Amino acid sequence: MTSLATQIGDFHFKNVLMNASGVHCMTAAELDELAASPAGTLVTKSGTPNARPGNPEPRYQALTMGSINSMGLPNKGLDYYLDYALAFQVKHPQQPIFMSVAGMGPDDYVTLAQKIQDSDFTGLTEFNLSCPNVPGKPQIAYDLETTEQILDNIFRLFKKPAGVKLPPFFDLAQFDQMAALLNRYPLQFINSINSLGNGLMIDPATDTTVIRPKGGFGGIGGAYAKPIALANVRAFRQRLRAEIAIIGTGGVNTGRDVYDLILCGADMVQLGTVLQEEGIPAFARLSQELEAIMATKGYTQLADFKGQLHTIA
Ligand SMILES: Cc1cc2nc3c(=O)[nH]c(=O)nc-3n(C[C@H](O)[C@H](O)[C@H](O)COP(=O)(O)O)c2cc1C
Repeated sequence: MTSLATQIGDFHFKNVLMNASGVHCMTAAELDELAASPAGTLVTKSGTPNARPGNPEPRYQALTMGSINSMGLPNKGLDYYLDYALAFQVKHPQQPIFMSVAGMGPDDYVTLAQKIQDSDFTGLTEFNLSCPNVPGKPQIAYDLETTEQILDNIFRLFKKPAGVKLPPFFDLAQFDQMAALLNRYPLQFINSINSLGNGLMIDPATDTTVIRPKGGFGGIGGAYAKPIALANVRAFRQRLRAEIAIIGTGGVNTGRDVYDLILCGADMVQLGTVLQEEGIPAFARLSQELEAIMATKGYTQLADFKGQLHTIA
């Protein structure tokens, strides 16, 4: 019997797959569909202190090998997702869920953390430090000083299970610096990676950008992101304290992609673009594909290969 069960801290999940924040998780109806699916759990859309309409459309476009988006954090606001999570945990006490939150500036993170800390929420909170699509705002995690200031402020008051969603890093020195910083905080997990910030796609028929916001610049997801996601998961697994779990996100289209993220050290794997394009059936398909690979190799549980990437001596 093959098991896809996994664990983050004391939280147990029956399946290693879940949605990535921003995909199929804006409304209570979408969240309910995730909860009823084979996914191990769910994460909400990144909630900001107040609801936001986001950027003008078109702001998402599927591409041959993935997607580009500049959504601008449209969301129903923290209260909406907190209300959902509180009602959900009463109905499903055995199914812990993730709440993603994002600040429009450093001060927002204190507001968000305080509100969740003061609530009865018992799940995991994902602080999104990496939204690349808000005009005029840098990605927080590309600025070490601001990241440190935000994490200091969060963990001064926040005592519940928490993690951070990170943008992709590309330089080994960046991994060293960010991991050294993250290791100082009581993080349950990191989630790596968010979209590759600021790609550009052109419609050849019209010589026009395929999305409207920011002159066509947007975050890239899907197959384009896979090697970067693998490198980020691997690099952080080699540098973070063993107790900090890693959620691997980016570039999943097949069971092999899921397998590869786990091989690099992912404890959980999220679906972004593939879920957007294929919908809820993606969870069953990818679970079956992953189980088939594990069966071929004689593996019955994720621990049989998690983090066991071979390198060439
Ligand atoms: C339409 C869309 C909206 C997204 N919104 C969020 C968001 O609100 N918060 C967040 O942390 N990531 C957001 N992301 C990034 C995804 O969670 C994920 O990190 C990224 O798409 C890479 O995964 P993929 O290659 O499977 O698409 C969004 C991605 C897409 C495509």
